[in-house]
Amino acid sequence: MERLIINGGNRLSGTVKISGAKNAVLPIIAATLLGQDKATCLDEVPGLEDVKTISDVLKTLGVHVQHDIEHHKLFVDASNIQNVTAPYDLVRKMRASFLIMGPLLARLGKAKISLPGGCAIGTRPIDLHLKGFEALGAQISIGHGDITAIAPEGLKGARIYLDFPSVGATENILMAASMAEGQTVIENPAQEPEIVDLANYLNIMGANIRGAGTNVIKVEGAQKLIAHDYTIIPDRIEAGTYMIAAAMTRGDVYIANAISEHLKPVIAKLKEAGVEVIEDVDGIRVICNSRPRCVDIKTLPYPGFPTDMQAQFMAMQTISQGTSVVTETVFENRFMHVDELRRMGARIKIDGRTSIIEGQEKLTGCQVKATDLRAGAAIVLAGLVAEGETQVGYIHHIDRGYDNLVQKLVSIGADIKRVDD
Ligand code: UD1
Repeated sequence: MERLIINGGNRLSGTVKISGAKNAVLPIIAATLLGQDKATCLDEVPGLEDVKTISDVLKTLGVHVQHDIEHHKLFVDASNIQNVTAPYDLVRKMRASFLIMGPLLARLGKAKISLPGGCAIGTRPIDLHLKGFEALGAQISIGHGDITAIAPEGLKGARIYLDFPSVGATENILMAASMAEGQTVIENPAQEPEIVDLANYLNIMGANIRGAGTNVIKVEGAQKLIAHDYTIIPDRIEAGTYMIAAAMTRGDVYIANAISEHLKPVIAKLKEAGVEVIEDVDGIRVICNSRPRCVDIKTLPYPGFPTDMQAQFMAMQTISQGTSVVTETVFENRFMHVDELRRMGARIKIDGRTSIIEGQEKLTGCQVKATDLRAGAAIVLAGLVAEGETQVGYIHHIDRGYDNLVQKLVSIGADIKRVDD
């Protein structure tokens, strides 16, 4: 089993370059299924396990996919889709596999996908995706562990109100609506930058989408979308993770490629903690010379504080001065990192969706495990400042979402290596 070995205590300094955004590239790869006539070349595609999984999903549909990891490019030729079924093994591995349902329905009028099932950070239903497809005229049936959606007459534009601004549901509905007949209006959609990136990509394929990034999206359905090349936006969660690494190690790190506009709540909270954050057009510099102060955070849909930064921020709070409170409102069970941080000496109490963190002078290295992707990032951050050696197991979770984590951290001065025993 592979592990990370971290010797804590090094101050991080230098420049780290952020890769393309995981949560933008996954729906965009799904959206390549809408593109006819030509092949697509996506640029700034990160070398992640999740990219491999969605590529494998496309391959099961008979689509040609090739990832040039060295040059961050992904080639997709979806001119010929032979199959509309996504198997359980892949959907189980990554829930985002469900994002192929919208494009398959729009282009071929049918899709059959295994029910994603539960996952570590909550039950995560897909009711909002299905409600959207039904509003667009699809017939949904569930049986034998699969969801089948058909639209023999094609999809028809509709007015859809999302009870919660789900990222995945907004993306799936957006892709389906981009080829539905007539106008679709999505009210209360997710407003994340990744939604805007997907809409931009669909628009250059010939879709007509307005309002992505606001609380109403309007889509005029197109008869046909044509494959087009595209460059993925930088990953704001990866950037935020390195910002916290700089703050926790009392370092001075320039996070190249980071878009500060996408990181407003994280920047605001770091400043509140006494960390210096300097924004420019090419990136963000984070400088910290003393122990951060305690600050409270509450996760919310964008533009609120991202749930995907909650675990990493908590890692910082464990060594901050004073007591901080974290309230998780997006997922019902996203405190898996707490037990692992406690093993490292953190003092954290959980009360429902709230955690109370009493900051300590230091953490101590020990054996810990990555329980999910961001929980894994949080314990790596804790390991960077812990006294002695931290061994992190179950790192396949971290590989899902961090491109070259070890090399990037080493390049800014961390003592971290990957071992296979
Ligand atoms: C996406 C991100 C994930 C991030 C999350 C919230 C990708 C690939 N993943 O996940 O990293 O943590 O947004 O920012 O982009 N919900 C329903 N019904 C639905 C769909 C969702 O009740 O049909 C609920 C979920 O249970 C959860 C909340 O809505 O409590 C947020 O989920 P959603 O925004 O859909 O997250 P994902 O798209 O799965």
